Amino acid sequence: MVIEQQIAKHHSPIVHIAGLRKFYGSNEVLQGIDLDVQRGEVVAIIGKSGSGKSTLLRCINGLEPFQHGALQVDGLALRHGDARAMRALRQRVGMIFQSFNLFPHLSVGRNVMLAPRLVKQADSTAAMAQAQQLLARVGLADKFDAWPDQLSGGQQQRVAIARALAMAPSVLLCDEITSALDPELVGEVLRVVEALAGDGMTLLMVTHEMGFARKVADRIVFMHAGRIHEMGPPAAMFGDPQTAALKQFLSALT
Ligand SMILES: Nc1ncnc2c1ncn2[C@@H]1O[C@H](COP(=O)(O)OP(=O)(O)OP(=O)(O)O)[C@@H](O)[C@H]1O
Ligand SMILES: [Mg+2]
Repeated sequence: MVIEQQIAKHHSPIVHIAGLRKFYGSNEVLQGIDLDVQRGEVVAIIGKSGSGKSTLLRCINGLEPFQHGALQVDGLALRHGDARAMRALRQRVGMIFQSFNLFPHLSVGRNVMLAPRLVKQADSTAAMAQAQQLLARVGLADKFDAWPDQLSGGQQQRVAIARALAMAPSVLLCDEITSALDPELVGEVLRVVEALAGDGMTLLMVTHEMGFARKVADRIVFMHAGRIHEMGPPAAMFGDPQTAALKQFLSALT
C-alpha cells in the first residue's frame, strides 16, 4: 500500500493547475490555465509583456490569490486563508526574481542560511555546512563571507539561486532571472540553471533567452492574452509554430 502510494505520488504531476482564472479588478489576466508539470521537467514560459507569465508564477507560489480553479504542488492544494497550508506550500516552491534582493546587511553565507534557520529551525552548524555546499554548487565556494554589494550581478543572482535551493524546494520558479544582468554575466547564471536541470530539478522559468529555452527546456509554454495559446516541445514550437500569435511573437524576436 505504502509502495503503491509512493508510486502514485511519483507519477502524479508535481504542479497541477486546472481552470485557473485570476482577475485584477475586472481585468481577467489569467483566463483559464490548465497545466501539469511532471517531476524533473523543465518548462520555459514565453510570451509578450502583459500576457500573464509573472502572474502565473506568483499564483503557483501562493503570492497571488486567484478566483477560480485549482492548483496543487506536490499533492498539496493551495488554499488561501489557510496559513498553515500556505506555509507548507511555500516551503516546496522556490522562486527567483529578476532583482535578486539579497539582504545587504547579511554576508553571502548568512543570506543562504537564513531561511533554513528561521523556517526549518535548522541548527547553525548544519545550516552553515549546507550553505557552503550550495555556494560551491553555484560556483561561489570562496564567497561565504563576502557582502552582497561586493559581488557582480551574476554572482548575486547565483547566491539567490543557492538561497532558494537551501529550502530544498520541489519546484523552482524563475522569473526572467537574467533580464537585469549585463550580457556578459547572463551565461554564468544560465549555466547554473542548466546544471540544476541536469540534476533533475523541476523548473518553471519565464525567459527571454530563446536559445537557452530551446536547448534546456523539455517543453515550451507560449502565453498570450492570459491563456496558454500554444504548448509543445522546443523543436516544434520554434521550428513549426502553429498559431498566428506564436509565429508573430517569434518573428518579432529576430
Ligand atoms: N498588481 C497588479 N495590479 C493590477 N494589474 C496587474 C498587477 N500585476 C499585473 N497586472 C496586470 O496583469 C497582466 C499580466 O501581467 P504580468 O506581470 O503577469 O505579465 P508578464 O507576462 O509577466 O509581462 P512582462 O513580460 O512584462 O513581465 C497585465 O495586464 C498587468 O498590467
Ligand atoms: Mg513578468
